[in-house]
Amino acid sequence: MITRRKFLHRTGLATTALLMDHLPPFAQSAPVKALTLDSNTLAKFVDPLPIPPIAKPDRYQPSPLDPSVKIPYFRLAMQPFEMKVHRDLKPARMWGFASGFPGPTFDVRSGQEILVEWVNQLPAKHFLPVDHNLAGAGADQPEVRTVVHLHGGKVPPESDGYPEDWIVPGKSALCHYPNNQDAAMLWYHDHAMGINRLNIYAGLMGVYLLRDDAEDALRLPNGKYEIPLVISDRFLTPEGQLYYPVSDKPNAPWVPEVFGDTMIVNGKIFPFLDVDARKYRFRVLNASNARFYHLSFANGATFSQIGTDQGLLPAPVSLKALMIAPGERVDLVVDFSGHRGEEMILKNDAFVMMQFRVSRDKVDDASLLPATLRPVQKIPESQAVKTRMLSLDEYVNRVAEPILMLLNGTYWHQPITENPVLDTTEIWTLINPTDDSHPIHLHLVRFQILDRRRFETSSYMSKREVKFTGEAELPDASEAGWKDTVRAQPGMVTRIIVHFEGYAGRYVWHCHILEHEDNEMMRPYQVLAKP
Ligand code: C2O
Ligand code: CU
Ligand code: CU
Repeated sequence: MITRRKFLHRTGLATTALLMDHLPPFAQSAPVKALTLDSNTLAKFVDPLPIPPIAKPDRYQPSPLDPSVKIPYFRLAMQPFEMKVHRDLKPARMWGFASGFPGPTFDVRSGQEILVEWVNQLPAKHFLPVDHNLAGAGADQPEVRTVVHLHGGKVPPESDGYPEDWIVPGKSALCHYPNNQDAAMLWYHDHAMGINRLNIYAGLMGVYLLRDDAEDALRLPNGKYEIPLVISDRFLTPEGQLYYPVSDKPNAPWVPEVFGDTMIVNGKIFPFLDVDARKYRFRVLNASNARFYHLSFANGATFSQIGTDQGLLPAPVSLKALMIAPGERVDLVVDFSGHRGEEMILKNDAFVMMQFRVSRDKVDDASLLPATLRPVQKIPESQAVKTRMLSLDEYVNRVAEPILMLLNGTYWHQPITENPVLDTTEIWTLINPTDDSHPIHLHLVRFQILDRRRFETSSYMSKREVKFTGEAELPDASEAGWKDTVRAQPGMVTRIIVHFEGYAGRYVWHCHILEHEDNEMMRPYQVLAKP
């Protein structure tokens, strides 16, 4: 049997630039529409916004670092369950942590390590379309596999959720999270090789809030005034079940991207939240497979961004709209005090996300929005000991359908090429000649965005030479903090500066568009111990 990958090798298409990209943006075809529910027919703002419960430790157990210290131990099962995503729909079948979508929220402190046992209690058969042509998802592999990754965590390699370290139903994996890093909103999600997009679509993810004293001292809104907003999109069948689109090739159902037409916040379609006329802190996560969101309030209200993926910005940034890519997080403060009695709609361009119903009553608000938050020391470029040029490529077939995405022209299974030395700094130059923005994520580390610069894509495709056509553009204020996921914009070279610290060992870097990640847009990388 000739798999698509072998076919590519044989014909040499994967090594020629001729058939690569210049694609029209992938559009969902008409047949998808007929199979799915039009969410615009659903009543809006009839379900209150769910707030996932806080995970509670099951017991205390000796630390793997020092057995004389007892640390919190959590046990979270991945289970099939049913939940109503809207008042007027029947419960949808999902897979989630502790029967939740999103799963329970971890609320933990910097410097306080924890243990989590992730238990796979899923059935042996997947309910979403597995593509056996994808690396790691062959017909000879167990169909249902899971491995949990703590996105944004500085975690030892054996607990990081390496995509091939999956477990099957009936098994569990114990992970140690040292939490030795600044306060930030992390998240946990499945990372199983070749089916990650399906497992997360099924619901396998949750929020992980890491706090520290420096953040507490700022007296930002907290308690019931601090709310996670986990944003995602799905297709639903007319019966209200999850629908994951497939290609027109029955033996190769993978599709290049999924852009669902139903917007879901914390597990509900078009939820509402009753709020007091005061400041709130919203911890926003884009947990979608592929959709980028351009969020704003329909009434044009301004709000403040106070943090990025890896924690607080140096100072609040006042915004009327923001962009968030899959895997990214933003930390917002919204002040409703000037909107008493109003109903404010949060939207994603033309899509309605949710509604805030602001109380008429005046309230005292002791929380603060300080003018300065946490200093972010710029890493000087001169500190970098190495610069890597890394291309992001899409490959198309003869009829211009994307069939494969690679990082720097290399497949997952090829030998490791990115091998920074522990405690050194590198610049990673992401060259994106495609028409897509790719949110590139590195495990283990946090980094800073240096700049983005336009270049000549067609000459790059033929000669693999970068010819700049514009000036370097600095990241805007809302990206000028610590990041772990960066939008590598189409037709641009995006440079990040990374200090590799924490642990030596094997990790991964990848595009966080889950369909890309599952089809080779992911590579292992190795942090080498100091010589
Ligand atoms: Cu959100 Cu490799 O992860
Ligand atoms: Cu990650
Ligand atoms: Cu991508």
